[in-house]
Parts: sequence; structure tokens; C-alpha cells
Amino acid sequence: MTVLSLHEVRRVHGSGETAVTALDGVSLSVGTGELVAVMGPSGSGKSTLLNLSGGLDRPTKGTVAVDGIVLDTCRRRELAALRRQRIGYVFQDLNLLAGLTAAENIALPLELDGVSSRRARELAETALADVDLDGLGGRFPDELSGGQQQRVAIARALIGRRRLVLADEPTGALDSHTGESVLRLLRSKVDGGAAGVLVTHDARHAAWADRVVFLRDGRIVDTTGPLDRPEELLSTQDGQR
Ligand SMILES: Nc1ncnc2c1ncn2[C@@H]1O[C@H](COP(=O)(O)OP(=O)(O)O)[C@@H](O)[C@H]1O
Ligand SMILES: [Mg+2]
Repeated sequence: MTVLSLHEVRRVHGSGETAVTALDGVSLSVGTGELVAVMGPSGSGKSTLLNLSGGLDRPTKGTVAVDGIVLDTCRRRELAALRRQRIGYVFQDLNLLAGLTAAENIALPLELDGVSSRRARELAETALADVDLDGLGGRFPDELSGGQQQRVAIARALIGRRRLVLADEPTGALDSHTGESVLRLLRSKVDGGAAGVLVTHDARHAAWADRVVFLRDGRIVDTTGPLDRPEELLSTQDGQR
């Protein structure tokens, strides 16, 4: 079942002489239980693709749909609810709210959806344990290390009944052991019935995905399954560094 679908998407930033075409004619479908990795050089349009997929940006042309709902024609309120309920994000800048504790940050999207605050806190504590942060729920973001903040952001993205999980280099601030456990969490969320898109520079991380999509200059230039063609995946990645 298709969760995310991009059809002939084009995104031009700015206008006139300074216009930059960040994505050009990109079509992509990601289904339930499927994790797609997106790789490509800096500036190739990876973050733009993720922002459009999550309804944080709108295409100049083409359509983006989540669960069959076309995001660009949604009303603002409808889009906000859809994002909160169905889409989980982990972005490079973590977007943790500085005035809320780690547990409150994680519980917030649930509470906004009407889950009782007691229940939301229980689920947040479980989510914290899943990312090895048991007991740190009462700390504020500035009382946590960069890697710990990253894990809070991941716990927040995976909590609840998210249908689509979008991660932009989620392991950036983490050591390789913790990075691995984050990918395992993402993988198990997807195996549990979500669809996932993971932007990564690391071929070992892309190997967790069912499919790898390569972007260059805003276009998809190759698609591969990492398990059937690992050598090609590694050599393509080296060529792009
Ligand atoms: N808000 C913006 N305004 C102008 N140009 C942008 C904006 N966001 C991205 N771009 C440009 O679009 C292209 C793709 O950017 P991005 O999606 O961030 O690539 P990546 O994540 O692969 O590094 C780049 O040339 C970038 O400079
Ligand atoms: Mg980026």
C-alpha cells in the first residue's frame, strides 16, 4: 500500500536570474513496510525532497500525496493535523523545544492529538528507554549532549501511529554504535507498518533500506536495492563524494 507518492515534482527556489531548480521531474512511491534511502552529493535536492514529502514545502509543479491526500491542496489546518498525526521527522537541526524537558518534547505531538497527558508521558518514558535515555526525561535540551538531543528527536519522530517517517541524516551527531541503534529503531518502525525515507551519506546506513535512490542535480539518476548490488552501491557512493 502506497503511503508517500511524489509525481513529477519540480521545486524551484527563488525567481529570475537567481532561481535554483532544487528538484526536477522527481517521481517516487514508498509503501507500507518499505524504507527508501536517498543518497547524492550536497546540493542535489535531498533535503528539498524530504521537506516536500512532509508538507513543509510545496512543489512548484507536480503533486505530493500522503495516504492519498494531496498535500499541496490541503488547507493549512488539515495539513497541520496530518503532519502531527501521520508524519514523523528527524531533521538535521533538531527542532527540540528548549522550554520543554526531553519527555515533554516527545509527549507533545501525542498530547496535541488528545492523548491524555498521563498516557503520553508513559509512552514518552518507553520511547526514551528505546533510545537508551532512561531516566533522562526530566532534562532540558541544553542539559543533554548533542548525541542525546538527537536521540530525543528520534524518539519523538517514532512515537505514536506514524505512517511516514522522514529522516535527514539522523545519525549525524551520533557515534557509530548509537547510530546503528537508531537505524535499527527506524527499521523496526517501518517493519511495523510505516513507510520511511532516510537521507544518508553512508552506504552502510543505506544498506538498512529496501531501495536506494540516487539524486544528482535534482533528478533521480539511479535506483538500486542494496542487498542485490552492494558493490555498485559502494562504488557509486565513492564516486559522488
Ligand atoms: N530555501 C532555499 N532558497 C534557495 N535555494 C535553496 C533553498 N533550499 C535549497 N536551495 C538550493 O536547492 C538545491 C538543493 O538543496 P538541498 O535540497 O538542501 O540539497 P541537499 O540536501 O541534497 O544538500 C541547492 O542548490 C540549494 O542551494
Ligand atoms: Mg540536506
